[in-house]
Amino acid sequence: MQDKYVVLGNPIAHSRSPFIHSCFAQQTQQQLSYTAQLAPLDDFEGTIEKFFASLEAGGQGGKGANITVPFKLNALVYADQLAPRAKRAGAVNTLWLDKHNQVWGDNTDGVGLVTDLTANLGVNLQQARVLLVGAGGAARGVIEPLLNAGIARLVIANRTPEKAVQLVKIFHGLNLEASLEAHTWASLAGKQFDLIINATSASLAGELPPLPQGLGAPNCLAYDMMYAAKPTPFMDWAQRSGIKQQADGLGMLVEQAAEAFFIWRKVRPQTAPVLAQLRQALAQEIS
Ligand code: ATR
Repeated sequence: MQDKYVVLGNPIAHSRSPFIHSCFAQQTQQQLSYTAQLAPLDDFEGTIEKFFASLEAGGQGGKGANITVPFKLNALVYADQLAPRAKRAGAVNTLWLDKHNQVWGDNTDGVGLVTDLTANLGVNLQQARVLLVGAGGAARGVIEPLLNAGIARLVIANRTPEKAVQLVKIFHGLNLEASLEAHTWASLAGKQFDLIINATSASLAGELPPLPQGLGAPNCLAYDMMYAAKPTPFMDWAQRSGIKQQADGLGMLVEQAAEAFFIWRKVRPQTAPVLAQLRQALAQEIS
């Protein structure tokens, strides 16, 4: 009997997670199935309940789930037990059932980002000055692992400045070594960063946050948490601004999946071959 896993979202048709997890399973010789399922916007709870219920009843039910847009907050509320980082992130992207039939929730997005930066892209985060652009769910999910990665400074800037201030309040005191500040677009002028991360959804609408020029230190990397076949508007902005290194979030997607796979199966898959295959598939989609 194969263990069942699922990714729930709405929309979900274009999710890469089934491909990623089936590669991981094959590579590590784990017997499991992983499918994508559309959950109705008004019935996340009913959908996840049904998925886990048959296992609770001793049948061939679900063992674990990834949760994507727009249900990460629903999953946080749904879980019986939460990993502390998920509680602080205010979002859950990974659920699993333990042997006492308790549903656990964790958030692997932030670890995914930090692993992509350090292991795949070779970024040295020690003493790095980091600008996080955006203060929505995606930004909140990555703050704790960034603060714990040895950085010197984390600046959060957002179109609605109060939301950046709110995030600073939530995470203030978590790591006293790194400074944590909220800024407006205007108050960023004259500052320099080693890493600039776009965590806004602006590029979905083909828009860009109005960032001042000159934010990139000489070896700065501009990282967009979104990914696409072509460079994103944020990556184009970085290039125009003289920031020589740019990356999209495809590596983060694969690394957050690897962390979820590790939680579920206690085996760490290799991510590089899967990332390379995904990159190739994306390139073929536009050619
Ligand atoms: P997500 O879960 O993707 O983070 P979200 O919680 O709705 O979605 O947050 C979206 C983020 O993108 C917010 O930081 C939002 O800024 P506001 O807090 O001011 O709404 C930001 N955002 C969306 N469109 C934007 C745009 N055109 N310019 C700048 N920021 C934008």
